[in-house]
Amino acid sequence: MGQRVIEVPESMRASAQIDEATYRAWYEASVRDPAAFWGEHGRRIDWFKPYTEVQDTTFGPGKVSIRWFADGVTNAAHNCIDRHLATRGDQVAILWEGDDPAEARAITYRELHAEVCRMANVLRNRGVAKGDRVTLYMPMIPEAAFAMLACARLGAIHSVVFGGFSPDSLAGRIQGCGSRLVVTADEGLRGGRTVPLKANVDAALARLPADSVDHVVVVRRTGGAVAMEPGRDVYYDAAAREVTDTCPAVPVEAEHPLFLLYTSGSTGQPKGVVHTTGGYLVYAAMTHQYVFDHREGDVYWCTADVGWVTGHSYIVYGPLANGATTLMFEGIPTYPSVSRFWEVVDKHKVTIFYTAPTAIRSLMGAGDGPVRGTSRASLRVLGSVGEPINPEAWDWYHRVVGDGRCPIVDTWWQTETGGILITPLPGATRLKPGSATKPFFGVQPVVVDGENTVLEGACEGNLCLAASWPGQMRTVWGDHERFVQTYFSAFPGRYFSGDGCRRDADGDYWITGRVDDVINVSGHRMGTAEVESSLVAHPKVSEAAVVGYPHGVKGQGIYAYVTLMQGEAPSEGLRKELVAWVRKDIGPIAAPDLIQFAPGLPKTRSGKIMRRILRKIAEDEFSALGDTSTLAEPAVVDDLIENRQNRS
Ligand code: PRX
Repeated sequence: MGQRVIEVPESMRASAQIDEATYRAWYEASVRDPAAFWGEHGRRIDWFKPYTEVQDTTFGPGKVSIRWFADGVTNAAHNCIDRHLATRGDQVAILWEGDDPAEARAITYRELHAEVCRMANVLRNRGVAKGDRVTLYMPMIPEAAFAMLACARLGAIHSVVFGGFSPDSLAGRIQGCGSRLVVTADEGLRGGRTVPLKANVDAALARLPADSVDHVVVVRRTGGAVAMEPGRDVYYDAAAREVTDTCPAVPVEAEHPLFLLYTSGSTGQPKGVVHTTGGYLVYAAMTHQYVFDHREGDVYWCTADVGWVTGHSYIVYGPLANGATTLMFEGIPTYPSVSRFWEVVDKHKVTIFYTAPTAIRSLMGAGDGPVRGTSRASLRVLGSVGEPINPEAWDWYHRVVGDGRCPIVDTWWQTETGGILITPLPGATRLKPGSATKPFFGVQPVVVDGENTVLEGACEGNLCLAASWPGQMRTVWGDHERFVQTYFSAFPGRYFSGDGCRRDADGDYWITGRVDDVINVSGHRMGTAEVESSLVAHPKVSEAAVVGYPHGVKGQGIYAYVTLMQGEAPSEGLRKELVAWVRKDIGPIAAPDLIQFAPGLPKTRSGKIMRRILRKIAEDEFSALGDTSTLAEPAVVDDLIENRQNRS
């Protein structure tokens, strides 16, 4: 196909845990007899009671049910901490790098054990028990991981809400899962600026019925003054002084929920994705080991925030289950300078580095100099996640950051999948810039056309999974029917990812992006429906339609078409006001990049907005609008083109 292929470096091939022949053999075994394969690999974690059942899954049509290792009993915190104490108690578990380069902490497995037990006791003293939901609204400090693991230790279910979400978004997520306890910090610190986390929690709780939440535990990060409500709010340091540093890990069934994580879809409000304990942990740990070729002595750094699934699986659960040293970074790539990532790599001798294309593109914009000024000699494997990586960014990452020496694993997965599904393995897979290449063990991708016909060979279509894998989400919190509708109804009998893809003649997968109404802004998922409903809640807005458009750094930008109420006039001031409105309503990540005031939106005669046309105009490709003859008022299109905001 004329595309570039980068062979596996000889040094990698020779020493890798999985070489090409092993990949083929294991992959083949994993799809021929999944129960035997996972029955064996499930034993990589400790079980208080070993499972005898491995797989019990059905994708419908009709009933959808996903259970792995169902009669086994385990605990995720035990697996991430206690079982390492005998062999690596003094090894660093969490290496924390502060926003300020002068601040760092190294927490050994033994210290992690004490910290997590203390946090668990603080929660337990406030009534948290097995099955209870706990909302975490935290900055990137070790206490965020302690709190997650403390919940896991008690069998409580954590729901981490990204610190960039607004009080309204936080309130919806607290109420959605009925958590009665929130863990937060006084303030977060990013790029030298404070984030008012506790104040946001106060604002969120003010929107909920008075008796919704019993306790707010506040970790001191900046020491900034915050309001404390007597009887409800307590500082973590004070509460922790009153408890011991031991707390037994509560045995839970494999299918007991470990966490839920709210994520955006193409319709309605965000849904609580439910992940359970046994299968999730096995899958997160196994992918972490093999995808990054993780070994003893590695210093592994994933730059995600724990507010997203990447932070759950590849900062906390996968690495810690493997006894890794996982680096947690509080700051941003550009503070104090654009060399920060590479300075941190040198300072901590990072060997594996995992980040998002948007970060790579923004740093690429600053040129090679800030990278070349650092050594990066410790790096062995580079990773990418969150959105398609364009070949230019791939190339720069490979050539400049990795000095042409380090394989890049372009890992495709989703909040729903729990762990990486399609990816190269460093010692086994030759790379093609822009392709996520091959399925991980046990993963069975299928490409289907609009009629659910499976396409063979080289093809392009909708990316589905034919069968379950242990890390798969189990349900939507409180709404199993929504789970079935969202993922198993478009293509009955299969899990539909919402992504489109191309498969080339070598069987390599190229993710082409979402085919539903979800946009991917800087690797963060945003439902267009959510942004629309925020815009129409503004008193001057009558109608809104939101689409994505290509953005040089963010991957996709948010383009909003807005129709104003009768008598309201478009203005620059109003444009700014609407951006600020969405920012405040949902959070900065949802703020529209471009707003076009439109006297009318293109609709069919039955009143359905034709998004296809809006997408084309937003992409500045209005010469190929296709058939517009079914529009109720074809003239609105001319106005939209005339006043388009993205002109290349
Ligand atoms: O469109 C795909 C894109 O991100 C979506 C999942 O978003 P989220 O649940 O927030 O999880 C992000 C981190 C796992 C997918 O449906 N995506 C993720 N990784 C890639 C990707 N697109 C292309 N290539 C990737 N490597």
